[in-house]
Amino acid sequence: MKAQDPNSPSFFPKSFNLQRHHHYLLSHFLLFVFGLTLGVVHSNLKDFSFGSLQFAQFPFSPMSPPPPSNISKTLMPNATSPTISVVATNASASSSPPRTGLKDYLKPPKAFHDMNNSELLWRASMTPRIPEYPFHLVPKVAFMFLTRGPVVLAPFWEKFFAGHQGLYSIYVHSSPSYNHSSYTETPVFRGRRIPSQEVEWGKVSLIEAERRLLANALLDISNQRFVLLSEACIPLYNFSTVYSYLMNSTQTFVEVYDDPSGVGRGRYELSDYPGITIDQWRKGSQWFQADRDLALEFVSDRKYFPVFMKCKDYCFADEHYLPTFVHMKFGAKNANRTLTWVDWEKGGPHPTEYKSENVTAELLSDLRNGFGRKCEYNGRSTDVCFLFARKFPPTALDNLLKFAGEIIHFNT
Ligand SMILES: *[C@@H]1O[C@H](CO)[C@@H](O)[C@H](O)[C@H]1NC(C)=O
Ligand SMILES: *[C@@H]1O[C@H](CO)[C@@H](O)[C@H](O)[C@H]1NC(C)=O
Ligand SMILES: *[C@@H]1O[C@H](CO)[C@@H](O)[C@H](O)[C@H]1NC(C)=O
Ligand SMILES: *[C@@H]1O[C@H](CO)[C@@H](O)[C@H](O)[C@H]1NC(C)=O
Ligand SMILES: *[C@@H]1O[C@H](CO)[C@@H](O)[C@H](O)[C@H]1NC(C)=O
Ligand SMILES: *[C@@H]1O[C@H](CO)[C@@H](O)[C@H](O)[C@H]1NC(C)=O
Ligand SMILES: *[C@@H]1O[C@H](CO)[C@@H](O)[C@H](O)[C@H]1NC(C)=O
Ligand SMILES: *[C@@H]1O[C@H](CO)[C@@H](O)[C@H](O)[C@H]1NC(C)=O
Ligand SMILES: *[C@@H]1O[C@H](CO)[C@@H](O)[C@H](O)[C@H]1NC(C)=O
Repeated sequence: MKAQDPNSPSFFPKSFNLQRHHHYLLSHFLLFVFGLTLGVVHSNLKDFSFGSLQFAQFPFSPMSPPPPSNISKTLMPNATSPTISVVATNASASSSPPRTGLKDYLKPPKAFHDMNNSELLWRASMTPRIPEYPFHLVPKVAFMFLTRGPVVLAPFWEKFFAGHQGLYSIYVHSSPSYNHSSYTETPVFRGRRIPSQEVEWGKVSLIEAERRLLANALLDISNQRFVLLSEACIPLYNFSTVYSYLMNSTQTFVEVYDDPSGVGRGRYELSDYPGITIDQWRKGSQWFQADRDLALEFVSDRKYFPVFMKCKDYCFADEHYLPTFVHMKFGAKNANRTLTWVDWEKGGPHPTEYKSENVTAELLSDLRNGFGRKCEYNGRSTDVCFLFARKFPPTALDNLLKFAGEIIHFNT
């Protein structure tokens, strides 16, 4: 930036002559260098980068004007040259400090925060009653991984997320007994672990973990869709397809059906579930895709969740609580299907696992078109019924990476 006429600096009082101007600037500069030195001495050198210099942390005298935004210029100013007046080009800006109120309020805490369960759920249950945002909001999808240990298919997910920063958030709830320092997390998963508790499959602690994941994700106001995944899940489409499918949908995706068999209605007992009739009892996969409204209802439910909480045994609440809750209260806006493919054809307590030798280009194509299924999406018929699939063991990773480029067309 070039100074206009150094003799008539319109932004200085008339009595402010050029000589004083130079003295002032010189002393300001010396003060600045002194402050900078102090700052460098006091800061950890390895964290010090000019690009992210925080001037507010330097010991400026309260009388000196706030520093200019362009740091590179002022680090080596030519004190004898009039061009130094760049320091004070905008005098009016110096009276308005950077705005913080809303920015600080909207900033989500670190994924690994110090809130306990009740504090977390309370904070997550807050919602604005004015629907229009007074700022620009880029909606994000929260990908919530409920795992035992690490996200073993992380290299596959890395390909999925590459190039889409700002459109997603990741949260990982893994067993607290799992030793995290024994595993090197890949970049997008680094620092995304949330405070977790022990989970027992088939028990109500599973839903508590789901609520913890949702609550953490809700703390970021830009998260508008919420996807629950396990370490055995993969995406079947590229990020842009998944993002627009979820964002544009007018419905939530919680699988809800009435199963008359022993593993459906057979698990219902009126004495266990007061306030819920057998006709309201539903079943469905735990792997859901919700919007913000449903996520809020899920974490704030103080009526039905406590009923399910009472069961300390193997009640498979993960397969009944959310389907029943959604059916009773939010059925109208729900698609009653999940977007996560799984194969139960073989029967038994566990679904089909796609081992390394099963993972082929053909399998991925079949999964993408749901083996010929048709579904409804925003009132129209589509053959994209599934965006995700399970179950894939860690050994399937190499073949997944091998065939994904050809079939899924990730960005990179
Ligand atoms: C700061 O100044 C340098 C050198 O004049 C210029 O290349 C850069 O774009 C400026 N940065 C900003 C943020 O104005
Ligand atoms: C200061 O700037 C002037 C004019 O641009 C130049 O002639 C002079 O050599 C510079 N002085 C130093 C110490 O860089
Ligand atoms: C000074 O800053 C104010 C407020 O940020 C801005 O409106 C104005 O255009 C700026 N003036 C100049 C000369 O940069
Ligand atoms: C959370 O912490 C608060 C304050 O220390 C305490 O009153 C509350 O009982 C705690 N809740 C849980 C679930 O630990
Ligand atoms: C966790 O793993 C690290 C690295 O492998 C090891 O040094 C550490 O002893 C382990 N901690 C526990 C509690 O097992
Ligand atoms: C979703 O909406 C965006 C913009 O509103 C549009 O560009 C995109 O094609 C839509 N995607 C689908 C799958 O409808
Ligand atoms: C899903 O089920 C609910 C009842 O739980 C019903 O009101 C709704 O119309 C169903 N949605 C679709 C897309 O069939
Ligand atoms: C996976 O491959 C094995 C060995 O070829 C085969 O027995 C099994 O049926 C395959 N599973 C699926 C789901 O295709
Ligand atoms: C993502 O996949 C869709 C098909 O599902 C394809 O049309 C699109 O080109 C892909 N996007 C990128 C960036 O490769």
